Amino acid sequence: MSTTEQKPDKKFYLETFGCQMNVHDSEKVIGTLVHEGYAQVDTVEEADLVLYNTCSIRDKAEQKVFNRLSDYKKYKKQGKKFGVLGCVAQQEGEKIFERAPYVSLVAGSASYRNLPQMLVQLEAGNQRVTGLDDRQTDQTFDTEFTARTNKHRGYITIIEGCDKFCAYCVVPYTRGKERSRTVESVLSEAQRMADAGFTDIQLLGQNVNSYKDPSGTLTFAGLLKAVASVPGIRRVRFTTSHPRDFTRDIVEAIESTPTLCDHVHLPVQSGSSKVLKAMLREYTREQYLERVAWMRASKRHISISTDIIVGFPGETPEDFEETITLLEEVQFDAVFAFKYSPRPNTPAIRMQDSIPEEEKSKRLAVLLERQRQIQSSTYQKHLGEVAQVMVEGRNEAKAQLFGRHSQNKTVNFTTSALIHPAIGSYVDVRITKALPNSLVGEMIV
Ligand code: 5AD
Ligand code: SF4
Repeated sequence: MSTTEQKPDKKFYLETFGCQMNVHDSEKVIGTLVHEGYAQVDTVEEADLVLYNTCSIRDKAEQKVFNRLSDYKKYKKQGKKFGVLGCVAQQEGEKIFERAPYVSLVAGSASYRNLPQMLVQLEAGNQRVTGLDDRQTDQTFDTEFTARTNKHRGYITIIEGCDKFCAYCVVPYTRGKERSRTVESVLSEAQRMADAGFTDIQLLGQNVNSYKDPSGTLTFAGLLKAVASVPGIRRVRFTTSHPRDFTRDIVEAIESTPTLCDHVHLPVQSGSSKVLKAMLREYTREQYLERVAWMRASKRHISISTDIIVGFPGETPEDFEETITLLEEVQFDAVFAFKYSPRPNTPAIRMQDSIPEEEKSKRLAVLLERQRQIQSSTYQKHLGEVAQVMVEGRNEAKAQLFGRHSQNKTVNFTTSALIHPAIGSYVDVRITKALPNSLVGEMIV
C-alpha cells in the first residue's frame, strides 16, 4: 500500500540526462517515489537508491551513463542500489545487468506507471527488477504526484511516444507508440497548476502536432486554445512540432490567443529535399518553407527555432549548402545542431555512415558560425521594444535580473535598487542591447 510516511533508509538520488520529456518524467518519478515513502537527497553518498534517467538520442549521451555507472560501482559494496531508467534502459534492456552487474533496476519510460510495484520488488531484495515490456501500452503516465522543480513554469505531457520512425531516430524504439492524453485530464492538470500559482505551461510530446484527443472532441489547435484559456494561465508553449503534421490552424490559434506564446520549435533537420527523403521526414524543403510562410504572414511576430543534423549518410557538400541557404532564408531565432550519430535499431544504421567525423565537425562549425551571424543581426530588431518578461532569477555578480521573453529568449535586465520584482512575476523591460543569444534591458516602473 502507498504511504506518504517516510521509510528509514529509503533515500534516493536521481540524475537526469537528455530532453525536456526526460526532465518532466523525472519530476513524475520523484513525486511517485516520495509518495511511496522515499526522500530525495542531493548526493550519491547520502542515497540508498541511485537512479539515472537516461538519454540515448546520440551515442555520446549514452556513453555518459555508462561512464557514470562505472564511476560509482565502488558504492555497490556499501549496499547502495542502482537503477537505470529512460531511453538507454529501454534500448539496452537486460544487457545492462551484464555490463553493469551492480544495477538492479532497468525500466523504460512506458513502465513508470508500475514504479510502486517495482520498488516493492527492489525492497524485497530482487537483484534484477525490470520494466521493459510496456511500449505498446495505450496508457500514458499521468500522476497527481509530480514534484515540480519550478514553482511558476511547468510541463504537461499531452502525448507520449512517436510513430514517425525518422531514419536516424531511436525514440520510436525507446518511448514506444504514440498515445495521447484525454483533453479532460490535460485541462484538469492545467487547472490544478493554475490553482497552485503556475502561470507558464509548456505542453510536451515528441510530436505534439499528432495529438489525437481520445474522445475526439478537440484538435491540437483546439487543445492549445483550451489550455490557454484556463484562468490564471498567462503563457502556453508547446514542443516539439513536426513539419509534416504542423497545420495552419495552429498558426491561427497563436494569432487569436494572446496567452499562446509567439514561438514555434519546428525541427527541419536538413535543407535538402534529397536528404529529407533519406531521413524519412515526409516533407520537402518547399513544404517546410510553406509552413514558415504561414507563420511569417501572421499578424503576430512568431519566432521560429529548429533542430538540424549535419553529416547524415549521403549528405554531399551541395546538400549541406542547401541547409545553409535554408538558414539564410528562414532566419531562425535559435538552432540546435548535431552531428549525425548512428543509433541501434534505426533504419539509418544500415546506411553507410559515410561522412568522416572531421567533416561532420567542420560542417557543424560552419553552420553554427553562420547562424551566430544571423542572430547577431536579427536580435537587433528587439532594440527599443518593451517586452513582457517573466522574472526567473537574479544574477548577484552582475547586479542583474534575468527572465524569459514570450518568444523564449533570455532577457537580462537591471532595475532600480529599490525595486525587487518577485520570481515568477511579469514585468515590462525596455530592450537596450541585443546579443546573438540574449537580450539586455531595463525594467520599466
Ligand atoms: N544523430 C544526431 N542527432 C539526432 N537527433 C535525433 N536523432 C539523432 C541522431 N541519431 C536530433 C534531431 C532531433 C533532436 C532532438 O536530436 O535533430 O530533432
Ligand atoms: Fe524522432 Fe522523428 Fe519521432 Fe522526432 S518525429 S521523435 S525525430 S522519430
